[in-house]
Amino acid sequence: MNEKNSGTFTLINDKTGDKYTLPIISGTTGPDVIDVRRLYSETDHFTFDPGYTSTGSCESSLTYIDGDRGILLHRGYPIEELAEQSNFLELAHLLLFGELPNQKESEKFVHDITYHTMLHEQLMNFYRGFRRDAHPMAIMCGVVGALSAFYHDSTDINDAHARMVASYRLIAKMPTIAAMAYKYSLGQPFNYPQNNLSYAENFLQMLFAVPSEEYKINPVLARAMDRLLILHADHEQNASTSTVRLAGSSGANPFACIAAGIASLWGPAHGGANEAVLNMLTEIGHKSRVSEFVKKAKDKNDPFRLMGFGHRVYKNYDPRAKVMMQSCHEVLDDLGIDDPLLELAMELETIAREDEYFIERNLYPNVDFYSGIILKAMGFPSSMFTVLFAVARTTGWIAQWKEMIEDPTQKIGRPRQLYTGPTARTYTPLEQR
Ligand code: ACO
Repeated sequence: MNEKNSGTFTLINDKTGDKYTLPIISGTTGPDVIDVRRLYSETDHFTFDPGYTSTGSCESSLTYIDGDRGILLHRGYPIEELAEQSNFLELAHLLLFGELPNQKESEKFVHDITYHTMLHEQLMNFYRGFRRDAHPMAIMCGVVGALSAFYHDSTDINDAHARMVASYRLIAKMPTIAAMAYKYSLGQPFNYPQNNLSYAENFLQMLFAVPSEEYKINPVLARAMDRLLILHADHEQNASTSTVRLAGSSGANPFACIAAGIASLWGPAHGGANEAVLNMLTEIGHKSRVSEFVKKAKDKNDPFRLMGFGHRVYKNYDPRAKVMMQSCHEVLDDLGIDDPLLELAMELETIAREDEYFIERNLYPNVDFYSGIILKAMGFPSSMFTVLFAVARTTGWIAQWKEMIEDPTQKIGRPRQLYTGPTARTYTPLEQR
């Protein structure tokens, strides 16, 4: 525990006049928290916070977000520096173990992850049981959930070595699982991982290579993929990460927990917004119609919202969106694609950012605003967008899970409720109802 006590907070019960003093705890940065752990036992009251907008659910040293200033740090390192100078596996090491690896640690970590990329051959049969038109996220939920049936030797959560092996297996196998889901939907043969390639290169190879011709890795696309993975690797206690932690708090094995995280990520309010941005830009269709759509977004009687704008936590420019925009230009320039959707997106951003409505409400582009355009240019169908998010976020999920399991104060997650149903009543026999 790295927390420190920084005073107290006093609650006064207006009905009884009773005073309750609660400790205030400080982390290393960010808002202090009021420690309500003893509130129920001492006052017979629960706190009430549906949606957890004011609730810290755990102590964590992985990721820090300052939404007002548009800051995202992983173990203290700004996301912009990581996206520019680091790579995805280095970030995975940082999230899992707390430090950037030195040369020797890096070589070992890359080697260990690389040699876990193959899937048990029997898992191929799983894919063949799915319909070809199954949504790839449905396949991800099923196959990842099934991993514990294949890798039972790494499901003992009380064994530190088993926890590490499970973490490596998940980070290593997720691109293989995702690429196979994609290939299955196309009716193309699966590609085995190639250990001479980097994590991002290998992922591209498994996704896009076909046996009938040589696949040449485009370094610009490999770099863009690596950046995309970095930008989505972790984002503290969002819905899917909290799902992984809650599932894991009961002692469930890590493969089952990550499958739960994938299910949560699938929801359109979480992982699906970049697809919605593409649909919106397509609907707008031309620069001349941007003002009309901005007007619609501001109209309270119209349910339309500018997709890719606004964020629950960021009330400033999402730092990931800046990197994503730069990556977007690099990819489109390299591929020689003149996508009118990019021009439209930039026009929309300019108009919205000069508009009083968006300025007053601190509505800025979020990470999803440009990512759909890059992924489309790289050749992904929109159904794969959330799958790529899941591949990246697996690193954050498993690092958060590991942090939770290794926390000596960890308990099963068990929120309480405000009961509003009927009070106790007597059962009425059927003939008397
Ligand atoms: N377009 C127009 N108005 C907006 C938008 C938007 N995209 N986002 C928020 N607003 C307005 C709201 O109408 C509200 O106005 P009001 O105060 O006059 O009533 C005000 O801004 C505050 O909005 P809330 O909905 O209270 O903000 P909240 O934090 O609950 O919502 C959310 C955040 C869901 C992301 C929202 O901004 C939104 O719907 N954005 C579009 C969808 C999107 O891009 N989602 C991806 C998020 S990033 C991610 O998940 C990886």
